[in-house]
Amino acid sequence: MEKMKHLNHIDFLYKPKFEYIKSFIDNIPNINILEFGVMKGRSTSFFLDLCKKLDGTLTSVDMNDHSKLFSDERWTFIHSRDDDFKLLDKIKNKNFDIIYIDTLHEPNHVKKILYYYYNFLKVGGRVFIDDINWLPYVKDSFKDSEYSEVINRKTFFKIIEIYYQNLENLKLEISFGGTGTVNFEKLNNLKLNEPHRIRNRIYGLRNLARFFIRRQPKM
Ligand SMILES: C[S@@+](CC[C@H](N)C(=O)[O-])C[C@H]1O[C@@H](n2cnc3c(N)ncnc32)[C@H](O)[C@@H]1O
Repeated sequence: MEKMKHLNHIDFLYKPKFEYIKSFIDNIPNINILEFGVMKGRSTSFFLDLCKKLDGTLTSVDMNDHSKLFSDERWTFIHSRDDDFKLLDKIKNKNFDIIYIDTLHEPNHVKKILYYYYNFLKVGGRVFIDDINWLPYVKDSFKDSEYSEVINRKTFFKIIEIYYQNLENLKLEISFGGTGTVNFEKLNNLKLNEPHRIRNRIYGLRNLARFFIRRQPKM
């Protein structure tokens, strides 16, 4: 849709996400953050500013070498895939307040990363997951992309499946600002239960029958 094109800019796509995250973590002294996905360093720069304010530390992981992006004693860059779990050996303080996931936006990969590093998150800590809103990517929207639409929809529903099996272990909020952010809060130290498909009765026979009955001509 041509009239939406003006929304495809950084202020609309990134600012709301960072403001949303900030509202939950702006007051954690000595905050310890683990970030996956650096690229141009937008989120890294945002987290580093917070670390300066809160006397915290940030460890960022990316499979491409972005080690020269920032020079800051609070920052450690680890050049690694996120699922090469040996990377944790390079981190001294493995007790994280925040984990930020913004690497491969594929539901099973996101689940794998979430479940592994969740074990190193403090109770009361949060995992933020980027890119679960598909609306910017639907046909004729301002970032029209079939791949991103489908993958974000799938990731969104995977998150719902994870939450449904962990109602007592996790608190879930989802923000649709920009390209969307999942916000999981860890409620206890129990191991996360595995997600399962949730039956959807919209496509059940009874609901489909209702659809057809309503459309029958009146007598
Ligand atoms: C969307 S960008 C990150 C954007 C960044 N968070 C920001 O706000 O500017 C995704 C990054 O994840 C990295 N990446 C993709 N798959 C990865 C993986 N399996 N392990 C580690 N890094 C990965 C890419 O190299 C890329 O730099």
